[in-house]
Amino acid sequence: IRTRIGIVGAGPAGLMLSHLLARAGIDSVVIDLRSRREIEQTHRAGILEQDSVDLLVDTGVSDRVLRDGYRHDGIELAFGGGGHRIDFQGLVGASTQLYPQTDVFVDLADARERDHGDVRFGVTGVSVDGLVSTPVMRFTDADGADHEIRADFLVGADGSRSLCRREVPEAARRQYFREYPFAWFGILTEAPPSAPELIYNHSPRGFALISQRTETLQRMYFQCDPTEDADTWSDDRIWEELQSRVGANGHTLKEGPIISRTVLPFRSFVQEPMHHGRLVLAGDSAHTVPPTGAKGLNLALADVRVLAQELERAVAAKDPAPLASYSEHALRRVWKAQHFSYWMTTMLHTLPDATPFDVRRQEGELASLTGSTAGSMYLAEAYTGWPKGR
Ligand code: DHB
Repeated sequence: IRTRIGIVGAGPAGLMLSHLLARAGIDSVVIDLRSRREIEQTHRAGILEQDSVDLLVDTGVSDRVLRDGYRHDGIELAFGGGGHRIDFQGLVGASTQLYPQTDVFVDLADARERDHGDVRFGVTGVSVDGLVSTPVMRFTDADGADHEIRADFLVGADGSRSLCRREVPEAARRQYFREYPFAWFGILTEAPPSAPELIYNHSPRGFALISQRTETLQRMYFQCDPTEDADTWSDDRIWEELQSRVGANGHTLKEGPIISRTVLPFRSFVQEPMHHGRLVLAGDSAHTVPPTGAKGLNLALADVRVLAQELERAVAAKDPAPLASYSEHALRRVWKAQHFSYWMTTMLHTLPDATPFDVRRQEGELASLTGSTAGSMYLAEAYTGWPKGR
């Protein structure tokens, strides 16, 4: 078979790209190793920038994000014994939307189905070839049939363990890494919300993030050792750890049964450039950010908004040149988000070998930030998302 654009990865980046291309009259085939159910059951972050919400609504994916999501006009930074609100609306006139990535995925998968998009979940034996001349994507579908799809261009939207990015020869790419000596212990609990907005909590015992999902379901995280085994933690022990961290700043959490617990990896990664021949990378395959600040999904959507336009030009001109301008454009935002995610992470987490000086210095940093309109505005602007094209 032939298609214009072969897309590896049916997460939010791959599906949104396929949706945007379809609106421009460009056909694509999307494949993913995972089943739709598997993707739906992976818990991810839950904060959308305004531009991400607009992209979903304005391009006709769904307006469920407005109906089922919750608008948040600020966050709380808790440290040094108390809470300090960052007022996004007052500072930069913007908000974020609490709406889980899994729901974004469901909306996109439904929209692709509704529009008769070609999306194949649960494939095996994926390989890509001919990146600089005649791109081809090979796989075996869920019914065991082998396929070879020729495309004008290939897109690697295949996540942080991307196979596509490994197809770029070493001499043609640069990779940037940073590891962190901690991870997040993430839980879902059947309890009412403990606060109206998110609480980013710094404490001498380590970071905790109090997030929400619905009136009856809450999402929380706390900093832990990367080798921690989530299954060995009892509900009581988890609540004790969370309560002691937020208690240091005057909060008490409403407890309930814990229905999911996982340890999330933590790293920063970028591969440059985000194109090679007739292959482009989008989303986590090209860049991973640590979760603090919830930039991952927003960055993926910002990538494909630009990529769809550049692919349109590339298809029309039968020329891969626009892919370089995509990479250049996307990387400007990527590195700003890399900095923001790293900064939020290092400001709020406690290093395993932190001295009392280190902890007090972090409190000093947080106090400078929350005590300064300029500092608070920087955080608000970055958190709610840099304007399109900047
Ligand atoms: C959530 C995750 C984040 O990493 C973050 O910074 C804020 C919220 C969440 O899952 O709700």
